Amino acid sequence: MLEILEMSKHYGDVHAVNNLSLTIPPGEIFTMLGANGAGKTTTLMVSLGFTEPTAGTVKICGIDVTKDPLEAKKHVAYVSENVMLYGNFTARQNLEFFTKLGGRKNVSAAEYENVMDRVGLQRDAFERRVKGFSKGMRQKLGIAIAIMKDAEVILLDEPTSGLDPKSGAEFLKLLEELREEKKAIWMTTHDIFRAKQIADRVGIMVAGNLVKIFSRDELKQADLESIYVEYVSQPEVQAA
Ligand SMILES: Nc1ncnc2c1ncn2[C@@H]1O[C@H](COP(=O)(O)OP(=O)(O)OP(=O)(O)O)[C@@H](O)[C@H]1O
Ligand SMILES: [Mg+2]
Repeated sequence: MLEILEMSKHYGDVHAVNNLSLTIPPGEIFTMLGANGAGKTTTLMVSLGFTEPTAGTVKICGIDVTKDPLEAKKHVAYVSENVMLYGNFTARQNLEFFTKLGGRKNVSAAEYENVMDRVGLQRDAFERRVKGFSKGMRQKLGIAIAIMKDAEVILLDEPTSGLDPKSGAEFLKLLEELREEKKAIWMTTHDIFRAKQIADRVGIMVAGNLVKIFSRDELKQADLESIYVEYVSQPEVQAA
């Protein structure tokens, strides 16, 4: 479970996130939409304990990320838009390295191969150095690393941005499997169509404020694209 409680993050005069409260329970996919600079990545940085909130708290499985960052980090996996990998290592070596770093021991070769298959990384890429990988291939490997950690909370920052249409569709299936496994999943995306397709709830952030949350039922009815454009175009919301 991810719990964000009255959390704000200010960088000087820039109010990147304002008084955000949001709980993502196990087995939910929450998708956050918002224009560039709306505060989505900042929320993730605070939730991961990479930066401290100006006010409020974030808890991962009940553990305060500011007070007990090492313990909290054990229960959260993160895939950034630009996945950090070791270029001179092969895909398999990166996966093994980060899996061990995540605290898992005695993982079989078959399990590593299985997860690379699951994210759709082609077999001939397993033993290739990552420095020659395309953005989408790096993202697939980043997702594999996150799955191997087997964390209860998964935070994804624009995970589909480098994926081709087929890989994007496969990725949504993978997210559904992770939901079945009762992971609490947060994903930011600019892809309204995918957000609507996969999410249990969709939020819209504007200038640091969570201005709207759609439930699954509302999503079925709503013209999400028009509503999104309406929200992000309101000058009074932008200034708030
Ligand atoms: N380390 C930092 N120092 C100063 N300002 C920052 C810092 N990180 C983020 N900001 C500011 O906080 C605001 C929110 O940025 P953030 O990266 O969270 O947006 P975002 O919603 O993820 O946008 P995008 O869709 O472009 O990824 C922006 O105004 C940004 O300039
Ligand atoms: Mg961002």
